[in-house]
Amino acid sequence: MSSEHTPPQHIAIIMDGNGRWARARNLPRIAGHKKGLGVLREVVKTCVNAGVPYVTAFAFSSENWRRPGKEVRFLVELFATALVREVNRLHKNNIRFRMLGEPDRFGSKVTRLIQDAEQLTAANTACTLSIAANYGGRWDITQACRRIARQVESGALAPADIDQHRVQDCLASRELPDPDLFIRTGGEQRISNFMLWQLAYSELYFTDVLWPEFDQAALKQAMAWYAGRQRRFGQTGEQLNATEAT
Ligand code: IPE
Ligand code: IPE
Ligand code: MG
Repeated sequence: MSSEHTPPQHIAIIMDGNGRWARARNLPRIAGHKKGLGVLREVVKTCVNAGVPYVTAFAFSSENWRRPGKEVRFLVELFATALVREVNRLHKNNIRFRMLGEPDRFGSKVTRLIQDAEQLTAANTACTLSIAANYGGRWDITQACRRIARQVESGALAPADIDQHRVQDCLASRELPDPDLFIRTGGEQRISNFMLWQLAYSELYFTDVLWPEFDQAALKQAMAWYAGRQRRFGQTGEQLNATEAT
């Protein structure tokens, strides 16, 4: 079955290539991050207009702390500024904000801003924008294991009752459907510890376009590519064609 008429319900994006974009212009890497924020704003707008109810963007991985201190500090500051400046706009547009990841390491100011943003926008229904920050897929699965272990320890859960749904319910993304379309800009064809569990059946789209240049046309191109995929989830194409014909 082709997904031609159904937009993806959940688009998950690795926004990569900011540094290279800036360096190619003799600008400091941070200039690319700054430009990238505006690109995300436009991408979310396009998704809302296209009827995509969930958008998740990887903003800072648990491994990005390994970058030079100056860049890390700028990224944390940019995150804080964005939380202050963008949240009202999100709220006005009926967009719910969520964070995926451990906020604590960003400090109490940013943690507070995240909580405020989540609370303010909690009842919004046009789209859910999740920002993955200090997020790693391995961290996510590990913390889910810890939650499950505690349930077993307390006697609330028997090991035999641990199934995929239980794991899914303990992931940071438990309120989100699995991504239908994964997009990575910047030319690299890897997952870089993004949503390892959740991407099991996502359609993976890689583009050489650097994130600061990922415009509406580029997003539409990714969605058109998605529309042409046949998602089989283990079945055969013939089975799906037969179901579609009935
Ligand atoms: C992605 O762009 C943004 C973050 C990881 C924060 P990069 O900063 O990784 O840009 P490149 O890959 O070096 O060009
Ligand atoms: C992945 O990009 C993380 C984000 C976009 C936030 P990276 O640039 O950190 O990934 P690697 O290091 O090239 O795999
Ligand atoms: Mg990169």
